[in-house]
Amino acid sequence: MNETAARMMTGFGNHFASEAVAGALPQGQNSPQKAPFGLYAEQLSGTAFTAPRAENKRSWLYRLRPTANHPAFVPYARETRWCSGPFDEMPPTPNRLRWDPLTIPAEPTDFLDGMTSYCGNGDPATASGIGVHLYAANRSMERRAFFNADGEILIVPQQGGLRITTEMGVMTIAPEQIALIPRGIRFQVALLDGQARGYVCENYGAVFRLPDLGPIGANGLANPRDFETPVAAFDDDDAPFEIIQKFGGSLWTTTQSHSPFDVVGWHGNLAPYRYDLRRFNAINTVSFDHPDPSIFTVLTSPTDTPGTANCDFVIFPPRWMVAENTFRPPWFHRNVMSEFMGLIHGAYDAKAGGFAPGGASLHNGMSGHGPDQASYEGAVTAELKPHRIESTMAFMFESRFPFRPTRFASETPLCQLDYDDCWTGFQKAQVPPGA
Ligand SMILES: [Fe+2]
Repeated sequence: MNETAARMMTGFGNHFASEAVAGALPQGQNSPQKAPFGLYAEQLSGTAFTAPRAENKRSWLYRLRPTANHPAFVPYARETRWCSGPFDEMPPTPNRLRWDPLTIPAEPTDFLDGMTSYCGNGDPATASGIGVHLYAANRSMERRAFFNADGEILIVPQQGGLRITTEMGVMTIAPEQIALIPRGIRFQVALLDGQARGYVCENYGAVFRLPDLGPIGANGLANPRDFETPVAAFDDDDAPFEIIQKFGGSLWTTTQSHSPFDVVGWHGNLAPYRYDLRRFNAINTVSFDHPDPSIFTVLTSPTDTPGTANCDFVIFPPRWMVAENTFRPPWFHRNVMSEFMGLIHGAYDAKAGGFAPGGASLHNGMSGHGPDQASYEGAVTAELKPHRIESTMAFMFESRFPFRPTRFASETPLCQLDYDDCWTGFQKAQVPPGA
């Protein structure tokens, strides 16, 4: 099962059909009395059966054995730093937090065991909120696969390429690309560069989708044709395979008699995908001021309140800055939404230092934040020629629900105790007397 670039299908949310062996997919119906080759027909539902057609996501998988063919799961015995909603390890904090990059472990550690939760909100039991994690790994997952019953997984690599084998095919990603694994789909992560680090958004809420474009029109931001889904591929492998799942906030494990990657063909609109962030069509002002950062939304997980997201995945890509008579970096602000930020590479234009690639920051709802003093001084004195922000890729998981840090995130030495100093030392504005 080796992915090649030529064997990806393009489009967002399409109803794809793919077979690794010609004739594996039944024609004209989903579940004939006996599927081709004696394959087992199995539906995977990512939304309620009765979700409206525009929201409904499901695929049919045709496999060597039914997924149900496994022993009971038992609690996962290895130590894990994967925490889950309701994130009640620590009291909520109104403080602004920032972390140095997560260290690559010295001990052999794969993608799953290298997952460290930083913060989160909501609860998988109520299908709302997200978990925010960083992974740091130095070995591939071997003869074991993972699936998440609590939510879909958005992977944002920061260092090192990944080959992600899924039930529905194989895809590779590298930093500046992202991958999404829908809830329930078994997958395995191999490291392509020896070491890997990155960020994960575990979305308990409504599945990620492209944002509406409103007056922008029919094109722009992340274009549907740039999303890629793997073609069907399978292993005929009858050796024991560990299956780990996250369910109800905890990890569980079992060992089954065979590889879970035995899907010979599938069709439907629920499938893993990848996207290259460098293809994002950034849109911004050509006059003055600049739009809210929502103009850089790649994917959104909505809630029942219009325009108020469970999670927006927002990026800050290379782009031209041309605004006249404008404070060009992100301004000082307080936000009803809560913001977790990460940096894939380069520098972020609101911070002169301290926010390193692989690091992170958290600004919860209504916390005052914005440029540090050095960035502010530079921006208010700069000659406003057209300027291109180069060689950077920052991102944000923005949520309507405040984030609660985990014990690790609160107590790790990576947490910068002097972060508040970013905003000390500003000169008081001098208003003329009697003005
Ligand atoms: Fe902000």
